[in-house]
This record gives sequence, structure tokens and C-alpha cells, in this order.
Amino acid sequence: MTYFICENLSCPVSYIDMKYTINTEEIGSCACDVLVVGVWKTDSININVPALSSTLNSAIKVELKRRSFTGKDGEMSMMPVLGEGKIKHVLFAGMGEKKKFQDTHLRSMAARIVKQVNSIKAKNIVLDQTITSAIKKSIEGAQYLVEGFELGSYGFTSFRKQTQKNEEKKKTLTEVAISLKDGKQAKELERGIEIGQIYSSGTILARDLVNTPAMSMHPGEMVKVAESLSGRGTGITCKVRGREEMEKLGMHASIAVAMGSIHEPKFVHLVYKPNNQSRKHGTSNERRATIKKVVLIGKAVTFDAGGLNLKPENGMTDMKIDMAGSASVLGVFKALPDLKPNVEIHGLFIAVENMPGGRAYRPGDVISAMDGTTIEVENTDAEGRITLADALAFASLKIKPDYMIDLATLTGAVIIALGSEITGMLGTSPDIKKALNVASKQSGEHVWELPMHAHYRELIKSKIADVRNVGGRPAGVITAAQFLEKFIHDIPWVHLDIAGPSYAEKEFKPETPIGGTGWGVRMLLNYLRDLK
Ligand code: BES
Ligand code: ZN
Ligand code: ZN
Repeated sequence: MTYFICENLSCPVSYIDMKYTINTEEIGSCACDVLVVGVWKTDSININVPALSSTLNSAIKVELKRRSFTGKDGEMSMMPVLGEGKIKHVLFAGMGEKKKFQDTHLRSMAARIVKQVNSIKAKNIVLDQTITSAIKKSIEGAQYLVEGFELGSYGFTSFRKQTQKNEEKKKTLTEVAISLKDGKQAKELERGIEIGQIYSSGTILARDLVNTPAMSMHPGEMVKVAESLSGRGTGITCKVRGREEMEKLGMHASIAVAMGSIHEPKFVHLVYKPNNQSRKHGTSNERRATIKKVVLIGKAVTFDAGGLNLKPENGMTDMKIDMAGSASVLGVFKALPDLKPNVEIHGLFIAVENMPGGRAYRPGDVISAMDGTTIEVENTDAEGRITLADALAFASLKIKPDYMIDLATLTGAVIIALGSEITGMLGTSPDIKKALNVASKQSGEHVWELPMHAHYRELIKSKIADVRNVGGRPAGVITAAQFLEKFIHDIPWVHLDIAGPSYAEKEFKPETPIGGTGWGVRMLLNYLRDLK
């Protein structure tokens, strides 16, 4: 049954086609809506924009002083250029202290710029050379700039009426020219631009999926999205199993979670294989043996009402976000065909809706996961770990990867522990944790490790089953991870509890507008590209 008609739901529409060019012309000779001038922090403003006359430059100096502009990081000041010139506005963008500047700063800077220029409906802008000459590594610098433009201008418009969509589109920047003194850096910048676009499109898909209401992003819709990412030329295959096939596999635990909903559970298995058919470097069997196999697992509870342990009103409102882990896995898969990392990657999720219908599973029920482990359900609201149990068991027993990582909006406790900007990281593999720490510093997505304190394993012991699904309020993030650990069968594994940063209630960074954030897509892409 369709309740709400929205075109293109399985292939959401927030992606903006922004064009990037490298500009080696003298800035004075280009026409643009906004010239963006980077300014290092300084005590006395002495800016000279070569593209403008000396009279205008003197006026600008006075005005910037009046506005107390100092060029500190994040500061922005827009000025109209009155008269007939080719440049209509100048935006002064503070870059902070030169010695503290890092390429990653470009992400937030570009996001701030895009908001400023969109607010005056600018269509095209030119970035001056102060900005490009600050870049330390050309590829990464260009990548972060592009991520800032793309992610900072994100808006979720699928559910606005057409006239409003058109209005929002009018505000959108479509052309960014990056100035260069000479063309030497151009090739690297171009590659960086391309990577930035790939990373952003994956992140934006994840944001769209999280932002789509649960009525329109139920398990069947999640399946359509996964299928749309596979097929000829992508390197990706997608296998979907329904309730009957899940039953044959022994996934009774996930099936139980879905029983209170009108939506049947769906088990989705995506596989990306690198195209290594060329015989240049040894036989394909030799190469395959050295290629790592990684499984990414996402929590995919399309709505978490809590089940019979119904959530209170304010706890339920945003629970369409409870599939954010799987949205990020889908975001990664969107990027893979263009990025082509040399790793075999499996993406798994079990999509369910956790509702309190007449057939719902009950507190006190005992259910068994795919590996035969029995689970006593103490609270039907701790449902994510139950579905992950089946997915982790499938990954470790059937796929047997080198590494596995799960992403899940698993506990409210992680928000109490780490707030809304940091993901809790736990697991058994120091190698994965180390690599994710590096990857997350580059992507600007923060992780913090919490301990798998041995004694706390006592808290999830059950009187009648192999394990129970809650361990009490204290150390709730840790006992949730220790529940998952029961299903990993010695495969090196890391769990990421993304309940905090998967959704932004307010804009805590300019590149992360309110709503779904697509947390982890860019970090995982970094991780996968660097995997040896
Ligand atoms: N989906 C929630 C966790 C959550 C809370 C995600 C807030 C995002 C924001 C999860 O299924 C849940 O309900 N967890 C319970 C576990 C408890 C019953 C042991 C929780 O955190 O309260
Ligand atoms: Zn829950
Ligand atoms: Zn949940």
C-alpha cells in the first residue's frame, strides 16, 4: 500500500549538480557573482584585491575595519561591489593563523562560503589564490573543499511542494572556479575534486535515507535502494532474502523483532568485488589471495517504536533514524563503483520495523539467532542488537571475512556518555581501531574508544537462555557491545555506536546541516582505500 506519493523515493533527489573548474586566468578578467578572498588572521587589515581598483580597495579597508574583521578562522564578510565591474560581490573568508592551518579546515570553510553565497542567490563564484596556495596536499585539499561545498549546501527537499523546491533550487550555487597561479597542480586538484564529489554523493544518499520518514522508508523501500546500487558495470551484486529464506537460515531472532509490524523483515547482502582481471601483476588467483575481505553491517530498524516496551512520546519522535547504520553502508556502496578500492566488500543489513502489533514479540520471550545462540528478551526496545546478532553470525560463519565493522544507532546511553558529535567505538580488533582512528581524523568524524571491561560480561547473563538482551542502565554502551561480541566467532571486529552523531538536532558543524548526517560514509571510504 502506498500512503504518500513522492517521486523518486528509492533514489532520492537532494544531489545538486555543482560544476568545478580550475581557473588559471588573471582574476581581474573573470566575471563572477562572488569573488572569495581568503584572509589570514592579522592585527591590522591591509587587504589588497588586485582585481579591484585602488579606490575600491581603500573603501574596503575602511569598511572591514569598521566591521572589526580580523580574518580569524570561520569569519565571513560579504561586500557588494557597486558599479559596472565584472565582479558583483567580494566575500572575505577568514582562514585563521597560517601556522595552524590544515587542509581539513577547508571543509568547514567551503561549507560556510556556500551558505553565504546561496543566501544572496549567487550562481557562480571564484576562489582566489590565497585559498589554493594554503593547500598542503593538493588532492586532499581539493577533496575537502568540494566536500564542504556539497555537504554544506545539502537540504532535504523531497517532501516539499514543487514551488518550494524550485525556490530552494534558485538559491543554489552551481559553479565554483578555483584559481591557480600555474597549471602544475591542476591534475591533482582535478583528482581531488572527483574524490570529493564521490565521497559527498555517498554521504548525501545516506542523509536522504535517514531523513525520509519511516512510512516511506520501510524495509521494502530499503531493499529497492540497495538493488538500485547494484547491476552491470558497478561491480556490485545484491541478494535479498525474505522471511521464509531467513527462517531457513535460522534468523529467528530478527524475524521475532519484525513480528509486531505489517512490514516483513528483509535481509540484504551486497557484494562489491574489485575488477582485477588484468594479468599484469600475477595470476588472478594469486592476487585474490592477497585482497582483503571486509564486511560492513548496518542496523536497519526503519522505525523503532520500542515494541511492546513502547517508547515514551519524546523518545519516539525521531526514531525514523534508527536505520542510519545501514544508510551509511548504502552510502559507501554508492561510492564504490567510482572509487574502485582494491578490497572485497560485503554490505549486510536486516531491515525490520519494531512495532507493538498483536503478533509482536514479548518481554520474557526466548528467541534463537542464526548461530543457535538463545536470547532472552528482557526489553523489546533493545531490538537493534537482536537483528545485528543474526547479521554478525551470518558474516562470521558464512562470509568469514578478514575484518568486520558494524554501525548502529544502538543505545541512548552513548549519547549520555559522548554527546551528539562522537561515536562510541568498541571491539576486538586493535588493527581496525587504529585504522579507523586515522580515517576519522581525515574525514572529521569523531570516534572514541570505550573498554570491553571483562567483568561487565556478567551483566548480560540470563537465567534461562544463553544471553539476555539488556544489561541494565550503567555502562549500557559497553554491555550492548558485549552482547554483539557473542556472535562474532573470532573474526576481528569493531562496533560503532552512532546514536549520537547520525542525526544533527542542530548544526554543530557547517558541513553537517540539521537532520541525517551520513556519519561514517567518508571515514569508511578512507579506511577501505587504505586497507592493505
Ligand atoms: N534505537 C534505540 C537507541 C537510540 C536512542 C538511537 C536515541 C538514537 C537515539 C535503541 O533501540 C534503544 O531503544 N535502546 C535502548 C536500550 C535499552 C532498552 C537497554 C535505550 O538506549 O534506551
Ligand atoms: Zn529500541
Ligand atoms: Zn533501535
